[in-house]
Amino acid sequence: MAERRDARRGRTAVVVSLASAAFALTGYLWWGNHELPPTPLAEFEAPFVFGRFNVPADNPLTVEAVQLGRRLFYDPRLSGTNALSCATCHVQALAFTDGKRTAIGASGRPLDFNSMSLTNLLWGPQRFFWNGRAASLEAQALQPIEHPDEMDQDLDALLAELETDAQYVVLFERAYGEISQTAVARALASFERTLVSANSKYDQYLRGETKLTAEEEHGRKLFMAHPDIKVSLRGGNCIDCHSQFLTSGFSTAYDGFSNNGLDAEEELGEGLQVTTGDPAHRGMFKVPTLRNVELTAPYMHDGRFATLEEVLAHYDHGIKPSRTLSPLIAEADNRVKGVDQDISLHLTVTEQRDIIAFLRTLTDRDFVANPAFANPFVVSTP
Ligand code: HEC
Ligand code: HEC
Repeated sequence: MAERRDARRGRTAVVVSLASAAFALTGYLWWGNHELPPTPLAEFEAPFVFGRFNVPADNPLTVEAVQLGRRLFYDPRLSGTNALSCATCHVQALAFTDGKRTAIGASGRPLDFNSMSLTNLLWGPQRFFWNGRAASLEAQALQPIEHPDEMDQDLDALLAELETDAQYVVLFERAYGEISQTAVARALASFERTLVSANSKYDQYLRGETKLTAEEEHGRKLFMAHPDIKVSLRGGNCIDCHSQFLTSGFSTAYDGFSNNGLDAEEELGEGLQVTTGDPAHRGMFKVPTLRNVELTAPYMHDGRFATLEEVLAHYDHGIKPSRTLSPLIAEADNRVKGVDQDISLHLTVTEQRDIIAFLRTLTDRDFVANPAFANPFVVSTP
């Protein structure tokens, strides 16, 4: 009973009232001599288990910014051809991925990368893209717009186009007092920060509202454990990297990037090395969130695995050695490792199946159906 009460108290989400006051103040100071400061997002909340988060001081979360950002996110006018919006590759029903092996943009050429799920972006590494090359959501937002293979849009042309739209003129004025590249980036980032997923079956379980099935519970235990033969602890080792309530690593530096053994030395992609120039970062990619992973196939930075069964087969017996392979993977084995033996977790078929059953508890149906995240241009007809 006490446990249940604690869970309830835990649930008392961090209604960020203090933070809102801070937003209001920064918003006001920064707004300077404009007459009406934008409205702080009062009811923005997040489960305390997710941990602390930071919103940039120069881009406080406001009702107006989020509303504008949502519109921009769904507006095909952001692309040069007026045919593609952010939502073309980030579809809400698929937890903001696109179901393709690698994304296809304005040029029609498949891109190098699988499109990434946009969920709980306030937590986890504050470096964006598979190789971490964007240092903030604001910095990320303009990149796909300009990229010739993605949205292929000239930013000045975009601003000119937005200026001819009376509704945008008002929305930008209210949110940022101007139409500018910075305002476009800040609005998109604000909308993305509100994409909080916190009501999967696993969240409900953590809050004491539901029970897991025997298979899911077995999978949860394996997911959370690093195998240790000495104490007969079997484990899948997943939490070592997919940490922080299954966002991905922590926000400090390049924590949350690693090499999970997809390719051998010769085929290793550059990964994080592109961003840092450090050869020790070769082949390291962002550890993606596993929230809604049931909906985000195909998997990995290049979409090479079509199913979760293939993913588990990879971690169990498909690991390819390379110099930067994570030691957390290289060491993990549920049997005594023989000399010269391949890297393998040695999980049973049932163990792999149960880990997948657990992964399916991370699906948040409310998140993918939340009307606040849906296309604002679609007028529902009675
Ligand atoms: C043509 C498809 C496509 C379009 C259009 C697109 N994206 Fe993406 N998005 C991707 C792909 C692919 C990646 C991963 C790319 C990479 O790592 O280089 C990505 C990555 C991201 C990330 C990084 C997430 C993370 O966890 O690191 C964010 C944020 C994002 N996109 C937001 C947007 C926004 C905002 C827009 C519209 C301005 C947009 N995307 C338009 C395909 C697309
Ligand atoms: C050493 C760190 C590490 C460990 C341990 C690890 N992962 Fe991963 N995981 C990653 C990285 C890094 C990626 C992305 C790799 C890439 O695309 O290049 C990833 C990708 C994934 C993906 C694909 C998600 C997507 O959206 O594309 C799934 C699913 C996944 N891991 C599940 C697991 C499971 C289940 C376990 C435990 C059996 C596990 N991982 C253990 C680091 C790790």
